[in-house]
Parts: sequence; C-alpha cells; structure tokens
Amino acid sequence: MREKLDLLERRRAEAEQGGGAARLKAQHAKGKLSARERLDAFLDEGSFTELDRFVTHRSTDFGLADQIVYGDGVVTGFGKVNGRLVYVFSQDFTVLGGSLSETHAEKICKIMELAMRNGAPVIGLNDSGGARIQEGVVSLGGYADIFLRNTLASGVVPQISAILGPCAGGAVYSPAITDFTFMVRGTSYMFVTGPNVVKTVTHEDVTMEQLGGADTHGGTSGVSHFTCGSELECLEQIRTLLSYLPSNNVDAPPRGAGTDPRDRRDEALLDLVPDNANKPYDMHEVLKRVIDDAEFLEVQPDFAANIIVGFARLGGYSVGIVANQPAVLAGVLDINASVKAARFIRFCDCFNIPIVTFEDVPGFLPGLAQEHGGIIKHGAKLLFAYCEATVPKLTVITRKAYGGAYDVMSSKHIRGDFNVAWPTAEIAVMGPKGAVEILFKKEIAESADPVAATEEKVSEYSGKFANPYVAASRGFVDDIIDPRDTRPRLINALESLQGKRDTNPPKKHGNIPL
Ligand code: HXC
Repeated sequence: MREKLDLLERRRAEAEQGGGAARLKAQHAKGKLSARERLDAFLDEGSFTELDRFVTHRSTDFGLADQIVYGDGVVTGFGKVNGRLVYVFSQDFTVLGGSLSETHAEKICKIMELAMRNGAPVIGLNDSGGARIQEGVVSLGGYADIFLRNTLASGVVPQISAILGPCAGGAVYSPAITDFTFMVRGTSYMFVTGPNVVKTVTHEDVTMEQLGGADTHGGTSGVSHFTCGSELECLEQIRTLLSYLPSNNVDAPPRGAGTDPRDRRDEALLDLVPDNANKPYDMHEVLKRVIDDAEFLEVQPDFAANIIVGFARLGGYSVGIVANQPAVLAGVLDINASVKAARFIRFCDCFNIPIVTFEDVPGFLPGLAQEHGGIIKHGAKLLFAYCEATVPKLTVITRKAYGGAYDVMSSKHIRGDFNVAWPTAEIAVMGPKGAVEILFKKEIAESADPVAATEEKVSEYSGKFANPYVAASRGFVDDIIDPRDTRPRLINALESLQGKRDTNPPKKHGNIPL
C-alpha cells in the first residue's frame, strides 16, 4: 500500500508541475500567475477539491504523443467563495499554451454540468491559445460542447469569465455568452482575429492592446464588464461580485450585514438636483447617499457612462441599480446605454435581484448616426427587458422623465411595483422648450416679440406638465416624496415586495429584438 501511495503522491506532484519550471518562469515574467496560484488566490483557503487531475489527451499527431501532461492544460474542480460553493476551471498556459483539446473541453463540460445540477456558479479563469491546433476538428467540437453548456446554463447559474491571457478566435464566444467578463490591463486580450490577420484583411496596423486589450473592451466595445489593474485585483473583484448574487435561479441573493441604519435620511439629497433643469449633476452622488454604506459595485463604468448600472444593497437586500447619468450626455438613452442596461436588467431578472431605477432622462438620442445604427431596435431591447422582468421593480424619478424614455425606465405601465418622484420631477412628453416650439410655432412666429412669447408659453407649459403632480393624480407615480426620505422609503417598499409573485405567459421564450 505504501508504495502505491508513494506513486500516487509522485503523480499528484507531477500534475501540479504543469508545463514545467521554465514555462512557469516565463508565465511569471509576463506578470501572470499560474493556473493553481490563481485558484489559491481566488478560493477560500483550503477549500479547493480538484477533479480530473489525471486526465490526459488522446492525440498522437504532430508530436502530441510525446507531450502528455496530467490535467491536459486545465485545472478543474469546486471550492468555496465566502463559504459558498462555486465550480471553477483555470487554464494552464504552461501546458501547450493552455490550448483546448477534446479532453480539456470534457473537463470543463463536466464541472459546468455539476454546477447546473448542484445550483452553483461557474467561474472560468481563461488563459489559452485557443483550439489545440494539432487536434483539428476534435478541438473545435470541444468548444462547441462548451458553448452549448454555456447557453443551457444561462439563467440557471451565474457564469463569470476572467480573461487572464490571450483569448482568440471562436474561443471568445464562451466568455461572451457568460454573464460577466473581467479583463486585466496589459495581460488580457480578446479578439476574433489577431493583429496579423487584421493587417492582411483590412490593412489596418493595430497593436494587441488597441484591438482587444482590457481598456478597448471595457470602454469601446462593451464586451467586458470589469477592467482590473492586476490579476489579484480581478480575482478579488469576482469574489465581491459573487457576494451580491444568489447561487442559482431558484435561490434568493445572500443578505448583507445591513448595519447602515434603515431609516437614515440624507440632508444633502435636498440640494443635489440643480434648479436649472439644463444643469448636470452626478447621479453617483444620489446613489451613494441612498444605498447601504455607499458601497456600489459598478458594472461597465467606462462604457456608455450616460447610464449607470451595478450592484448595491438596501437594508441588506441585494439590488441591481439602473440610473440615468445627467452628468454624461445629459443622461440620454443611446444605443450603447440601451444595450448595456437591457443586459443588466435581464441578468437581475434571471437571478431574483430586485431592480431599483433612478430616472433623469431627456429621451432617446436623436440623429442620423443613432437612427442608422438602429436605436429603434436597440432601445426596444431596454423596453423589452424592463417589460418582461418580474422581479420587484422600484423607480425614483429625480428630475426628467420625458417621452418614450418615461415609459421605458420601469414606469408603472410596464409593471413598476413602487414608483415615486421627487418634487423636482418633470414628467412630460418632451422638455418645455421643445414642446412649445411645436405647439405654438405659428403663434410665436407671428408675435411681435418671439422670445418673450416663447418664454411665456414655456412658463405655462412648465407649470402644467413639468412637475410630478399630473402623473401622481393618475396614480402613475405612487407618491411624491421628500428626497431626504429616499432610502427609508425604498427599503420599506423593498421589504413589502419580498413575497412578490408575478409571471409571464407560458412560452418557449420571448423574441427580444436582437
Ligand atoms: C497548440 C499552442 C497553441 C494552440 C499556443 N501553443 N497556442 N499549442 N495549439 N492553439 C503553444 C505554443 O506552441 C508554445 O508551445 C506555447 O503554447 C506558448 O506559446 P507561445 O507562442 O510561445 O506564447 P506567446 O508568445 O505568449 O503567444 C501566445 C499566443 C500564440 C498569442 C496565444 O501562441 C498564438 O498566437 N497561438 C495561436 C493562437 C491561435 O491562432 N489559436 C487558434 C485560434 S482559432 P511551447 O512548446 O513552445 O511552449 C480558435 C478556434 C476556436 O481557437 C473555434 C471555436 C468555435
């Protein structure tokens, strides 16, 4: 027995060597951790149980028969994050560049299936040269097997991808299907084709960083959701994200400590909204003063900053925040903002996370570029997402709620559960000036003093419509509240909605305008 145990120990140790000391050194020289170091940093100490440590590939072509490494380039298993079960895979770039073989894919599929069966999130730490070139179509099939499971797991368990090295070709589509993608500045890259292919096809000279670096996907394409300064920061941030999420679509999100007083009023909320409706203010300031301990995990902070989305807690309850940002493009809804918020809302709805909307929106962005880019279909995504969501929906209108954007932003009409307005709210078909220029075009043109005539009509229109009272008289907002009471009122409402039951008609699935 002892001899057999010695052999087992030797083999276990061998598996932990991955591609060997020289390649590990090269990995560290690039500023990257090894696959196992990442798992050590990510999971609760001592909680990792490895599966399939002794799996090897079955290929013999192109010298692969001589390159057999236990584990085949990916470490898989389960462990805990803050005491809660998660399934993980961590690709080992030191083994054939972390490339995906048939067996490497089988290992990933196995933990995805376990995660779905046991109702726990899947976290993928990606660092791979893509399909194992020597294996050809077998490796492509392995990717397809993963894509299928990503899709089937979508909305069942949270799926999170960290890109910690290259991620090229079709390999990018697994992270893209998952719920959240994290990237690290300077070491992670995602692209469908690399700079060389780009040069050949479009004659563009681009660096890896420009084409698919962390800032590109965090700020320009919106492919990634979190941009981190280091791998350790990235792994820590995934742990923070998980603290807001339930383990699966049946569970409720975990409760936070809720030590921030529930009845805390905030005097500063009285003066945040400028008297002049055309002046910007920072919606982050409102959020910070309302949520628990000013702790906000913002998703995609650098992409479509005219809308803010992210996770927070209210009275300890996990909530998804969607907020127009008057400080950027006046908080207008454009294509990117609509798509960003729609995906976030759908995530929250999948996973029983109430949605709290802070609204100050002048409408959808006009213009040729937006119309030609399809603002109609992209704006419809946001509308669709809010309409179909059955989680508790709470809305605070701080200032403008104009036009179609009033309807879209979680209005009463699309099943908002608790809709309130601050006294500064202006709920109307459009802003006073635009409305007057249309309604009284002829009258103003014919008047002796068009400027004075416009001003008079603007004042008349504002008095009638640029306030929350007409909406309140119809019951379209449930109440007009003192801004200082926003936090206690939201927590109180959230609590009343804990037993909410609402469903959509039975169907295979809806047809969101993609
Ligand atoms: C097999 C691979 C590999 C791959 C890298 N390696 N990629 N082995 N299949 N796809 C091996 C290398 O041979 C090398 O082995 C080791 O990994 C490290 O690679 P280097 O090139 O030395 O590292 P680096 O300079 O850091 O460059 C990393 C890289 C580059 C940018 C990822 O290796 C690269 O361009 N690889 C190919 C990428 C690619 O085109 N993949 C296919 C994408 S298409 P040794 O023995 O020297 O250590 C795809 C289709 C998916 O993935 C389709 C799904 C639908």
